[in-house]
Amino acid sequence: MAEKQEVLISAMRHEAKGILSFEMVPTLGNNLIPFGAGDHIDVFLRDGLVRQYSLMNDPKEKNRYQVAVLLERQGRGGSAFVHQTLRVGDVIAISHPRNNFKIVDDATAHVFVAGGIGITPFISMAHHCKQNALLMKLYYCARAPETTAFVEQLVPLFGKNMLVHYDRGDLAKSIDLNELVKNEKGAQLYCCGPRGLMNALSEIVDLQGGSLITEDFNPISGKKGGEALSEVGFTVELLRSDLTIDVGPGQSIIEALKAANVEVETSCEAGVCGTCVVDYLDGEPVHNDVVLMPDEQETSVALCVAGCKSKKLVLDL
Ligand code: FES
Repeated sequence: MAEKQEVLISAMRHEAKGILSFEMVPTLGNNLIPFGAGDHIDVFLRDGLVRQYSLMNDPKEKNRYQVAVLLERQGRGGSAFVHQTLRVGDVIAISHPRNNFKIVDDATAHVFVAGGIGITPFISMAHHCKQNALLMKLYYCARAPETTAFVEQLVPLFGKNMLVHYDRGDLAKSIDLNELVKNEKGAQLYCCGPRGLMNALSEIVDLQGGSLITEDFNPISGKKGGEALSEVGFTVELLRSDLTIDVGPGQSIIEALKAANVEVETSCEAGVCGTCVVDYLDGEPVHNDVVLMPDEQETSVALCVAGCKSKKLVLDL
């Protein structure tokens, strides 16, 4: 089971149009688990409603977590719950901090490309870079000044190494990613924001060369579990439990395990949070997640969205 901690909502602030931040402090007698640059937490909003948010304050702060949430009117309910129901004084459960978006400390320079609310992980990462005298630069892409949060706290962190680009929602006015990649050759690139931005940057980096790490909390094509899965069934073998379980066509491994009364902790069930990741020892999984790096996919699999090319997948469970 993923470990949880209880926190008190101590402050909420309107940061920009549609963006609300909230702060969490320990409940009486508890300490917050320390966190690192780029860490995120699962926030258990109510039964079955769990969302991942990046921790955005300085990781040196020991008694406070801060996250920010964009109200997504066509969303799946998490952001609406935060904006409309969560209030100062509420006590909620959150996971321990986790990291799928690590700073590559030995890179010569760090270039952050943020799209809208995707700015949040870069604030804690900027604190880390500044404290460790690492070269950094920020490209912050947003629609308009009124929807752009945290600029005031970014200025002292980045100084002149920050470019805010407004596109007014017009694709033709988007930032020139080809130029960006060309100008930042040799730097470690990081991107967080809408999937379109991350995919576009990723394609350009593939063509021009370079190194890019992305953070994505969006569900896979809006699909959950089984919808993204294999059309043919397969078998999972649980090595440590000595069990063999059939996974039907279109069924997720998680669903098959639950039907066989095998408990596996899940959170997003959309391949974005990493809660259900386990090691596999044999077989050819089809990785539908966005949480594992290619080298991690050689040994690990996100059970909520993975399919399987081989007839059998052997899991370290
Ligand atoms: S439960 Fe989030 S990746 Fe599987």
